[in-house]
Parts: sequence; C-alpha cells; structure tokens
Amino acid sequence: EQQLLKEQPLRCKTCLITAGPTHEAIDPVRYIGNHSTGKMGMAIAMDLANRGAEVTLIIGPTSLTGEHDLIQRIDVTSAQEMYDAVHKHISGKDYAVFSAAVADYKPAIPAGQKIKKSSDTLTLELVKNPDILASVGVMENRPFLVGFALETENEIEHAFAKAKKKNTDLLILNSMNDEGAGFGTDTNKITMIDKNGNSEKFPVKSKQLVAKDIVDEIVKRTS
Ligand code: CTP
Ligand code: CA
Repeated sequence: EQQLLKEQPLRCKTCLITAGPTHEAIDPVRYIGNHSTGKMGMAIAMDLANRGAEVTLIIGPTSLTGEHDLIQRIDVTSAQEMYDAVHKHISGKDYAVFSAAVADYKPAIPAGQKIKKSSDTLTLELVKNPDILASVGVMENRPFLVGFALETENEIEHAFAKAKKKNTDLLILNSMNDEGAGFGTDTNKITMIDKNGNSEKFPVKSKQLVAKDIVDEIVKRTS
C-alpha cells in the first residue's frame, strides 16, 4: 500500500475534465466550431491518470486518441451535450478542470434540411450557450475548480475578472501573443491566477510539461 501510494499519489482521487471544441449545428451538414484540438485537456487527463487519479474526460469532436485504464472518455458534440454530461458526472469529484473551448453561441434554430444557396447574404440568428464552468462554480460542495482563459488584450486584468466571475480556485491564462502558444500547437505559455489575485508566469513548455505544472499546483493547493 505504501509503495502503491508512492507510485500513484493520487489514488482514490477523482477528477472531471472537459476538453476540445464544441460543434453547434447550423443544419444537418454544417456547424459553428473552433480550432481547439483537445490536446491540453488530454495531457492533463493523462498526467492525473498516471498519478493514479480516476478521470472522467468529457471531450468534444476531435481526432485525438489516447487511452488509459483510469480514463473514462465521454464523447460529446455540442455545448449543451457537454453541459448535460458534466452535470451527470460532476457530483463527488475532487477536482474539475475545464479546458474545453466551448462555443459561446449556437444557431437559434438549426435547419432541419441542408440550407440551399439562394440570396447573396445569409443571416444566422445565434443564442448564448450555457456557461458550464460558471454553472459548477455556483454549486455547493463543488470540486477544486480549474478554468482556462484566453485573452487578446489586458490579459491579466481580464483573466482575474474571469476567475472572480466563475468562482475558480485556479485560472490558467493561455498566452496567444507569443510564438509556440495557442491552438493546434504542441506548446503553451501560461500564467496561473488564483482567487486572491496572485499570479505566476511560466515559460513556454510542451503541453505535457504544462499539464504537469497544472497538476502539481492542484495537488499543492488541495493537500
Ligand atoms: N466555459 C464553459 N462554458 C462556456 C464557455 C466557457 O465551461 N459556455 C469555460 C471554458 O472551458 C474555460 C472558461 O470557461 O475554462 C473561460 O472560457 P472563455 O471562453 O475564456 O471565457 P468566456 O466566459 O466564454 O468569455 P469570453 O469568451 O467572452 O472571453
Ligand atoms: Ca468564450
């Protein structure tokens, strides 16, 4: 038992992770989406599982593979499906990491049939999706909550406001402004921000090493 705990210090811990993009249907063959690949969330899931934690990974449409005995993968398509899956599985979790790039808006009424080309302009009406992270932030007995943020201006200020608004214990700010960071790359540059406004900058690293830093921080702050 002692030996096992040494090799798998997070044995008995449970974690829920969201990852990847969401796709919002316009009609049966088209959607609104984004360039998220799910790599960051997958790397965090793997790191947690390698330390013995039981992981529920709720992931949007992606070609990413990656299996682990301790990862239960749930594939979803839209933000609403991701929301439903999260609320089905969140209860009792020790940690929750929201790394998904959830579409903020979806078409108000997806067309039942393929939209035919006709006039020169086409206007789609969009409605807001539920904020999954914020909905967990207001729960009683919520898990230790980690969110992500991507900002293109006033990064730290905006991220701190986001941390407060969503009630996260830790907010991971992704910097887009530097080379080797952002969507589709294998590296990230992050700043960690906590509730009290403390922030810590990290250098550009592989997503695997960024995942390790994030999990180390979760462990430090929850033990
Ligand atoms: N998030 C979520 N559900 C949504 C939108 C965002 O769970 N409908 C989560 C993301 O997974 C991320 C965090 O909220 O952990 C911040 O996402 P971000 O897009 O940066 O923030 P928004 O609140 O959507 O604000 P904006 O896009 O206007 O900056
Ligand atoms: Ca958003």
